[in-house]
Amino acid sequence: MRNSPPSFSTLAIHHGYDPMANEGALTPPLHLTSTYAFETAEAGGEMFAGERAGHIYSRISNPTCDLLERRIAMLEGAEAGLALASGMGAITAAMWTLLAPGDEVILDKTLYGCTFSFMRHGLAKFGVIVTHADLTDPDALSAAISARTKVVYFETPANPNMRLVDVRAISDIAHHHGAFVVVDNTYATPYLTRPITHGADIVVHSATKYLGGHGDLVAGLLVGSAELVSQIRLFGMKDMTGAVMAPFNAMLILRGLKTLELRMDRHCKSAMTVAAFLEQSYAVEKVWYPGLASFEQHAMAKRQMSQFGGMIAFELAGGMDAGRAMMNKLQLVTRAVSLGDAETLIQHPASMTHSTYTPEERAAHGISEGLVRLSIGLEGIEDVIADLAQALPVPPVRNAA
Ligand SMILES: Cc1ncc(COP(=O)(O)O)c(C=O)c1O
Repeated sequence: MRNSPPSFSTLAIHHGYDPMANEGALTPPLHLTSTYAFETAEAGGEMFAGERAGHIYSRISNPTCDLLERRIAMLEGAEAGLALASGMGAITAAMWTLLAPGDEVILDKTLYGCTFSFMRHGLAKFGVIVTHADLTDPDALSAAISARTKVVYFETPANPNMRLVDVRAISDIAHHHGAFVVVDNTYATPYLTRPITHGADIVVHSATKYLGGHGDLVAGLLVGSAELVSQIRLFGMKDMTGAVMAPFNAMLILRGLKTLELRMDRHCKSAMTVAAFLEQSYAVEKVWYPGLASFEQHAMAKRQMSQFGGMIAFELAGGMDAGRAMMNKLQLVTRAVSLGDAETLIQHPASMTHSTYTPEERAAHGISEGLVRLSIGLEGIEDVIADLAQALPVPPVRNAA
C-alpha cells in the first residue's frame, strides 16, 4: 500500500468493509432484521445502559446502515455518521436534538422549501426563535448573533439560487458565540466540499440526490462528532422522529457511493458546458453557476469547492411565462423535482420546490419568480444542449445566424 491516505474513490468503495470477515462476500450483506438477540439477559441490560456495544433494535442501529454511516463519516472527514429516512429526517432529527424553547436558530436567507417550512412553521411553533440573516456576508451573522443563538444553519450552494456561504468564516463567528454550525451539503457532496474540514459541526444530506445517485430512493445522512451524532441518534432519530433509514436503502447508497467521484466529474463537466451555452443565449437573462466567471462569488467557489457542481439556476428574458413555455417544449430534459440523478431534470422553484414560501417571502429571500432550476444528468451533453436549444425562444445563441 502507498504511504499517503487512500483517495476519495478508494474510500468510497472500500472503507470499513472486509470481505474476509463476511464469508468472502465482495458486496456487504444486507441485514434485513428489526431486532437482535441478546446473549444473556444481563448483556441486553448492559446494552440498554450503554455499557456494552452491540445492536439492540433497528430504529437505533443496523449493521448495513452502520457501514454506510462509517463510510460517509470518512468521506466527510467526520468522526461519526447517521443514516436517516430522508434528508428532512436528518434535518429535523438534528434540530430537535440541538434546540430547546427559547433558543435561537439563525438561518441563511435561502433554503430548500421544506427546510424553510420546518424551521419557520415547525420549530417556531415550539418556541424556538427563528431568525434569517444573509450568511453570504459574515458581518450579517456578527450583527445578528447573540448569547441565545444555539445553531447557525445554511446550504452551500443554496437551493435554488446557488448562493455560496463561506463555511470557515461563518463557523469562526458561530463558535466564538458558542453556537453549532449545521451545513446542508446536498448540492456539493463531500467530493466537492467538506464543510467539517472548514469548521462545521454537523453536515446533513438529502442522500436521495447525488449520494444515492440513481433517483430510486429517498434517504438522509448526517455526520459530526461522535458525541453529537450519538445524541441525535438516541434522541432526534430514536425518540423524536423515528426517521430511520431502511437497510435496503443503505445498501443502494453504498452502491451509489462507489461511483460518486465518476458521476460528479461528469455532472460538473456537463453543467459547465450547459451554463456556458445558456449564458450566451439571447433568451436567457441571467445564469447562476459557480463555475462561470460572471458568478458573483466565483472566487469563493474556487476556494471552497474542488469543482462547481451539477446544478444551474437561470432566468429567461420573459420571466416565469417564458420559463414555463420553454419547460413545456423539452423532450429529453425531464420536468421533475429532485436532483443529482442520471437524468437531466428541470423544475420551477416558485411553483414547485419553493412554493412553501409566500410570494413575499420568496422576494425577501432572493428566490425570483422566473428562476428555473436545472439538475444536469449524465446523458451525452450534446443531446441535452440540443434539447435546450430547440426549447429556447429563437435564435438561441448570440452568434447564431
Ligand atoms: C438542499 C436540500 N436539502 C434537503 C432536502 C430534503 O431531502 P429529502 O427530500 O431527502 O427529504 C432537499 C430535497 O430536495 C434538498 O434539495
